[in-house]
Amino acid sequence: MNRGAVAEIDLGAISNNLKVIKNLSMNNPVIAVVKADAYGHGAIDVSRRLVNDGVEYLAVAFTEEAKELRNAGINSSILVLFDPDINDIFTYNLIPVISDKKTATALSKEAEKNNLSISVHIKIDTGMGRLGFTGDAANEISEIANLKGITIDGIMSHFSEADLLDASFARMQIEKFNSIKTALLNVGLSVRLFHMANSAAVMTLPESHFDAVRPGIMLYGYSPMQQSAKTPELIPAMTVKTKILVLRRLPSGTPISYGRTFITRRDSLIGVIPVGYADGFSRRFSNNAEMLVRGKRVPVVGRVCMDLTMLDLTGIEQVEEGDEVVIIGRQGNESIDAAELAFRADTIPYEILTSLGNMAKRVYNN
Ligand SMILES: Cc1ncc(COP(=O)(O)O)c(C=O)c1O
Repeated sequence: MNRGAVAEIDLGAISNNLKVIKNLSMNNPVIAVVKADAYGHGAIDVSRRLVNDGVEYLAVAFTEEAKELRNAGINSSILVLFDPDINDIFTYNLIPVISDKKTATALSKEAEKNNLSISVHIKIDTGMGRLGFTGDAANEISEIANLKGITIDGIMSHFSEADLLDASFARMQIEKFNSIKTALLNVGLSVRLFHMANSAAVMTLPESHFDAVRPGIMLYGYSPMQQSAKTPELIPAMTVKTKILVLRRLPSGTPISYGRTFITRRDSLIGVIPVGYADGFSRRFSNNAEMLVRGKRVPVVGRVCMDLTMLDLTGIEQVEEGDEVVIIGRQGNESIDAAELAFRADTIPYEILTSLGNMAKRVYNN
């Protein structure tokens, strides 16, 4: 995007975060989750870096995302987590995650028609309540294993609340997953990769690491834990910046922005920046966020508009139009991260990163 914000992506931070994951998971293979344009960091550049660093698998949500990676020359194994388009799966040599028998049968027919064989991963719902086989999953998986042209290369499940310090529900999910694994082994089905661990489980549930781990948010430098847990040495990979578009000296008593929710209480210096909710800077930050200018925290004043936001710069020395404004990142001794913004907007860093990162113009550092 070429609007008012620039996202600087530090690929070195992503390499560092991958090492942290590798250490925590005893060097297990990593299925790197790069869906939603790598959580706003740019899936092509991030995937190239991760593959270069030895990542074994990439995972995206939709077939179209996988096609973009293939068209950019990325040849590694790619899992399509949620929407396997039958034709494209074969054309682009992708690995579909299957959550129902119907899709498995359609893939088998297509494989047979073209005299091909295809690897799939099967999803089991152990408590997320979203996608996957429930009930007698082992029986259904055995039936899929007998379909022509299909090889079950992986079996996976997803946690619903591994990000809580109370891990009792997560442990119940692991138990269910283990019992299906045992049932499959008992009927003689051997599957290469059992995988379940998202970032939270990578950090706190080693018994869920199985044959591969499947982290997303940790790669981008954030802990998923809702309460404090021992945080590994993650480095946030995204900095978001903009510039002061206009500076205005306004007298005390001047209303700022839609709805006059902020009225200056002194003669003020107000900076207008070219970033608004259309850039992923939520309207929930109206009178409710800070940014960095000349190394100081300055408040957002008034409502965030579609393309513009106002900052109170009163008392910031030597500030000028064109000065750098940091929305996420470091300036001088101060820093603001996506977790701080998430807390203010009652959301999670995932939403902050995807919202801002996917609308900004991206530049990459190594
Ligand atoms: C199926 C699946 N696996 C793994 C992940 C990665 O989760 P996290 O970013 O919390 O590590 C996600 C993310 O939402 C997911 O949907």
